[in-house]
Amino acid sequence: MIRPGKIRISIYAQLVFWTSVILILLMFGLLFIIQNREVKAIYQEKKERGLVMIRYIAEMNVRRLVLWDLDSIDENISGLVREDLAYVIFYDRNGKPVVVSESIAENLEVLNQTNCAGEVSPGDIFYTNLELLLDGRRQEVMEIEMPVFIPGSENKWGSVKIGLKLEDVYLRIKRTRMILMGFGLGALLLSVISSTLMARRITKPIKNLVEGTKRISLGDFSYRIPVISADEIGDLTRSFNEMAQQLQKARWQMEETNRRLLQAEKLASIGRLSATIAHEIRNPLTSVKLNIQKLSESQSLNELEQEHLAIAREGIEEIEKFIKELLSYTRASTLQKDYFSLAEVLDESIKMLQPSLKKKGVTVKKYYELGLPQAYIDADRLRQVFLNVLRNSYEAVEEGGRIEVSLKMDRDKDRLSFEIRISDNGCGIPEKDWENIFEPFFTTKTSGAGLGLANARRILGQHGGTIRAIKKEGRGSCFLITLPYSEKKGEA
Ligand SMILES: Nc1ncnc2c1ncn2[C@@H]1O[C@H](COP(=O)(O)OP(=O)(O)O)[C@@H](O)[C@H]1O
Ligand SMILES: [Mg+2]
Repeated sequence: MIRPGKIRISIYAQLVFWTSVILILLMFGLLFIIQNREVKAIYQEKKERGLVMIRYIAEMNVRRLVLWDLDSIDENISGLVREDLAYVIFYDRNGKPVVVSESIAENLEVLNQTNCAGEVSPGDIFYTNLELLLDGRRQEVMEIEMPVFIPGSENKWGSVKIGLKLEDVYLRIKRTRMILMGFGLGALLLSVISSTLMARRITKPIKNLVEGTKRISLGDFSYRIPVISADEIGDLTRSFNEMAQQLQKARWQMEETNRRLLQAEKLASIGRLSATIAHEIRNPLTSVKLNIQKLSESQSLNELEQEHLAIAREGIEEIEKFIKELLSYTRASTLQKDYFSLAEVLDESIKMLQPSLKKKGVTVKKYYELGLPQAYIDADRLRQVFLNVLRNSYEAVEEGGRIEVSLKMDRDKDRLSFEIRISDNGCGIPEKDWENIFEPFFTTKTSGAGLGLANARRILGQHGGTIRAIKKEGRGSCFLITLPYSEKKGEA
């Protein structure tokens, strides 16, 4: 829940922020340590260089000092003072400057400052950092001082002090800092980029999950969230998908149950209706039919009257056919199954339709696979099924039309089944109606009951078979009927 007044910050932004902060802190900590070590190393280097220098100067001039040849010393050091060596000062054993390089001769503060006036021992080295005016500007200088002893004796003869300019040290430190700063900025950039990428990687599956839950909550149970991470979120996504699948299944089942309920309800009302019709209409209809029959046998009628009677008789027959179909659809009797040749049953259906076919000049082509085993069926019912489908074809074709009937065994699947195709070159069925035509009372004919195919599907269903309209090359329609094959005992 979002509390009022609280700003909503996405996980993505939080991740980017915190990982960046951590990475930046780490990088800068590391850079700070590196910098400190670098600075120390640069100082150390300077110190060592100074030490080498002062030892060299002392060694070169110890004899001259002992002999008190101060001029030679002066000459020697004036050649040495250049680059970072700012000055050299020699003191006598009492700490009084005796030889001073020109560059420092005026600066009494520096001249009078010595560490070696009192008791010192060989090997003592003194370091001091100070700031003073040199070459007209203030500069940092490192002073190194050591006592001078006559070689092999404990006798201090004086001391030597040098001043080393630290300008180059600061320059180097500055340069090092710049380089490290550059590294730091680069690292900053990299850390922001990498944390952004990481955050995206982490939040992508979450985003998908959120999107998926939205879609599913809107009722789109067919939506599946892509599983792209192999972690807890991946697990969650998987269980989410499973849940969606279960929901989808539940919905299908509910829809299916609904459909069945509706169908059953429809059937029940049709049943009641047809029972009434059978009772209320059949008897008067029979009497009407009988009377027409009687009338037409009388000799007193002229030709026109006879013709009218024939039309009336046809109408009655139409009504009778409708009632018969209605009753056969609702009759819930059990099947009388036995072993029959499907080819024979098909032939009988065609034969029943033969008079009509002949009248309209419709030809029937048969393609039966030879040597097929018998099928375990209710032959009467199946004859009715084939007749219904054949009659539809007959009604769909024009004068001189063509119907094809094929029968074969389908051996593709694990279970064997019979496959019957009945096709014609008639008006055809629009694909959107391929399922509707099996609904009871669906018809496009003025005098149709719309029960033929519904009945066919019901009977085939009782046999464990199916019927559906399928695609056909050229014009017309094609119906595919399947019936399971069950092996007759004692038959190979
Ligand atoms: N072979 C076919 N060619 C064209 N339309 C067909 C064919 N078979 C069935 N139909 C369509 O399916 C509808 C339903 O058929 P059916 O259940 O037998 O009822 P009816 O024949 O009484 O109309 C028909 O009205 C017709 O529109
Ligand atoms: Mg029909």
